[in-house]
Amino acid sequence: METRITHSTTMAAELLKKGELVAIPTETVYGLAGLFGVDKAHRAIYRVKNRPLDNPLIVHIGELSWIKNLLEGDSPFLESLIEHFLPGPLTIIMRKAPHIKDNFVADLPTIAVRMPSHPIALEILQKVGQPLVAPSANLSGKPSPTSAQDVYEDLKDQIPLIVDGGKCQLGIESTVISLIQKTPQILRPGSISKEEIERVLGISLGQFEEKQVLSPGMKYRHYAPKTPIYLFDDPKQVMVESNSWILSYEGELPHSVSFSSHSLYQRFREADRLKLSKIYIYLSEKLSYQPALMNRIQKAAQPA
Ligand code: TXA
Ligand code: MG
Repeated sequence: METRITHSTTMAAELLKKGELVAIPTETVYGLAGLFGVDKAHRAIYRVKNRPLDNPLIVHIGELSWIKNLLEGDSPFLESLIEHFLPGPLTIIMRKAPHIKDNFVADLPTIAVRMPSHPIALEILQKVGQPLVAPSANLSGKPSPTSAQDVYEDLKDQIPLIVDGGKCQLGIESTVISLIQKTPQILRPGSISKEEIERVLGISLGQFEEKQVLSPGMKYRHYAPKTPIYLFDDPKQVMVESNSWILSYEGELPHSVSFSSHSLYQRFREADRLKLSKIYIYLSEKLSYQPALMNRIQKAAQPA
């Protein structure tokens, strides 16, 4: 199958309505979209990404009113989260509505819902007129794609269409929050910080613990380039080696390649394109205050 790159949201919506997959831009990363609740689309997403079947997908909505039909029960926090953060880079987990079949939620009693703020994503969702599941549009395990070119590299000839929305504004995935327990819990740190959410809800959320695996997707090695990654925290240890990069947060170290949350995945993919032999990442104090970045870096550095 030949993969076309387009700006046409109408073409995207037409294919999606037929149960085909289309990669779409969002404000976080590109998503591989398919119709929620349609077997053919769900199966194709897992196949194309080579994604483990126990890793559930996020349901994307184009209107806030679509939420009602997906969730069951109530949470005292739902309304303020919606009001403050949606549309935007926050994914909310609650119990799923009873009419939703188990096979569309990886056999979990819960469902993850997000309303992207990207105008192209919203336009496509609204033209389709129903929810779309959309994991990041990379091959499972690779860094998430932040440009149409990244998607093309991973998925060419596997999907009919990529909608080009340029570079993603945020470059790191949405924050995933669960409202299942009495105290909401962050399952995946992301663009919206724990502190921002705590301010809005007026409660403390408890420390995000990397060791607790609550979000199935978090147990797999992830976000990793082919180039091996080494972490160091003493700038005096820096080795200058040919064909390798030292990455430092916002260019803190001299002679290093700078990264931020907007560009981490881009750097990973550039390193692979350049066929570098190593990436060294400086774990500075400043970086330690960036939980989403720390989380992705630690996962990417895990041995396969
Ligand atoms: O920013 C984003 O969230 C992007 C864009 C495309 O929207 N999507 C994304 O999807 O990152 P994905 O599939 O790559 O990551 C979804 C994460 C996984 O860690 C998955 O395990 C978790 O959300 N998740 C989904 N449903 C869940 C559920 N019911 N309970 C716990 N975790 C869930
Ligand atoms: Mg992903």
